[in-house]
Amino acid sequence: MQGAFCTCSIAARLSPIGLDPPLYLAEYHGELCQEESMSRIVYVNGEYLLEEEAKVSIFDRGFLMADGVYEVTSVLGGKLLDFAGHAARLQRSLSELEMAAPVDMDELLSIHRELVTRNGITDGMIYLQITRGNPGDRDFTFPDPATTPSTIVLFSQSKPGLAENPAAKQGIKVISIEDIRWGRRDIKTVQLLYPSMGKMMAKKAGADDAWMVEDGHVTEGTSNNAYIVKNGKIITRHLGNEILHGITRAAVLRFAKEAQMVVEERPFTIAEAKQADEAFITSASAFVMPVVQIDDAKLGTGKPGPVATRLREIYLDESRKAAI
Ligand SMILES: Cc1ncc(COP(=O)(O)O)c(C=O)c1O
Repeated sequence: MQGAFCTCSIAARLSPIGLDPPLYLAEYHGELCQEESMSRIVYVNGEYLLEEEAKVSIFDRGFLMADGVYEVTSVLGGKLLDFAGHAARLQRSLSELEMAAPVDMDELLSIHRELVTRNGITDGMIYLQITRGNPGDRDFTFPDPATTPSTIVLFSQSKPGLAENPAAKQGIKVISIEDIRWGRRDIKTVQLLYPSMGKMMAKKAGADDAWMVEDGHVTEGTSNNAYIVKNGKIITRHLGNEILHGITRAAVLRFAKEAQMVVEERPFTIAEAKQADEAFITSASAFVMPVVQIDDAKLGTGKPGPVATRLREIYLDESRKAAI
């Protein structure tokens, strides 16, 4: 689209909600003007801003203490996948850390939708970050929420063709690494240093991701839940404080049971995983992704297995149908 003929504008994309008629809603079909394509519209504490203009304080506790939580919701065909699940987990993360929700869940949904529209997202992700705010100085103890409101930031990532990721056709390779994270992995906090290190270890080893192992048993992937398949049975670690309660995991296990597949929720060792017929991971952005190699062990035929392939199809079909 040529800038000269373009009917959308930064002003329209930044306009407060409720001004009518919102030009960007009528004219915006997912393509950005060339001169605007670099700048996203993001949401910070009640305002829609150009990403260059969005700021949080150097005293924000997210920055100083990793005192914050986050969520990631995928968008396919301009619609949000399993928003209710992500909103429910967000509320749980906030309450486990005694943090107040800065907006109610209806408003959160409308902010997600605004970002989809204002950024012309067809396929991609909406990230939501909430921290314990800016108390004005550095201190270990939590500030009083009455005087220090939380910081809330949302931003989009455009990933055209997200569901057609070619990696799903060939499968990914993982390495195993020790799980040295803290003991409340069920809370989705912004403490992502070890997962980042794990991804770097994988990259250096020529792999795509890492599965973390504690007391000989696989906990999860750096940013996903881990599964193996043996004799048609799907095995994945049970829920607890040791893993994040994946929203995709919950949906995939439900679909698997509906399709009469056998699911066993229990710990499995890395040795058992290497002997599996197939393996896969799940996450909001990878959906169901086959794993074809663990360390030096190739699984099954070395190609994505039938269970992972079928679950990916079912998950994508059902999630698109239910998207809002
Ligand atoms: C450590 C970890 N486990 C599991 C998941 C998968 O969760 P979900 O399916 O809700 O994306 C993630 C997602 O970010 C994660 O970071």
